[in-house]
Amino acid sequence: MKRKILLAIVVIALFAAVLWIYLAERPRRFEIRRAGAAIPIGTPVQIEAPLGLPPVPIPADNPPTAETIALGRRLYYDPILSVDNTVACGTCHKPELGFSDGKPVSQGVHGQKGTRNAPTVFNAAYYTTQFWDGRAPNLEKQAEGPVQNPIEMAHTLEGVEKKLMADPSYRQEFEKAFGPGAISYETVGKAIASFERQGLGRTMLLTSDITPLLCAPTRVHDVNKGGTSGDKTFRISTLFRWIYLCSVFSKQ
Ligand code: HEC
Repeated sequence: MKRKILLAIVVIALFAAVLWIYLAERPRRFEIRRAGAAIPIGTPVQIEAPLGLPPVPIPADNPPTAETIALGRRLYYDPILSVDNTVACGTCHKPELGFSDGKPVSQGVHGQKGTRNAPTVFNAAYYTTQFWDGRAPNLEKQAEGPVQNPIEMAHTLEGVEKKLMADPSYRQEFEKAFGPGAISYETVGKAIASFERQGLGRTMLLTSDITPLLCAPTRVHDVNKGGTSGDKTFRISTLFRWIYLCSVFSKQ
């Protein structure tokens, strides 16, 4: 009899332990499922590598599509990513300034000054690490940095998710790009990364193949410095780049 009671206690204890572990793990398992499901759907887009350069590296879980590129373009220029809706990625990486901001150090929300210079995002698709110190492994992860930086956008990933979910037009665009479900920051990073990759391929194709003479004497960074007035080649190539870069990266 005593043995039976003991056995029953052991069985109940085991059952309770299994139930407890299951309930405790449930949210985490949901997160993992949600992250794994964030694969782009829609119309695939081929990113052409400029002549002479290797293929643009693309992560297997983020093939570029027309929908993610369009969404990434919108997000890149939208200050909604910052805590007070004043600063966008495009504030510090402006197409007309060679995808930088023309300042020694960048300025984020509430006029706060950072400690580093904003590098151009032009070409960034080829880098094996991102940021001056290489602390982000790819464009997808890099896009998480500025949002959480207290000087730049001073927001949280969860805060951005909530703001985007509250906007019906964003909900619709995310659904078209990644299928139904809650908006996760993972999809924000993926869309922005595809937008940055697409701009690179087409822009470089033009500057390296079609206009070598016009573009050779200048580099995109020269646009930052304003060039030297009276330098005709500079002005022609700057104008040319400006029109082209703006057409590729424009808000539409
Ligand atoms: C307040 C200005 C500011 C904002 C806003 C900002 N950036 Fe930056 N960005 C910088 C600075 C400064 C760096 C360099 C920081 C470092 O290396 O620590 C940088 C680095 C980068 C890099 C790395 C390039 C390289 O050469 O390694 C990429 C890509 C980039 N930003 C894209 C973005 C995207 C996408 C957003 C929006 C989600 C964004 N930035 C928002 C200022 C800004």
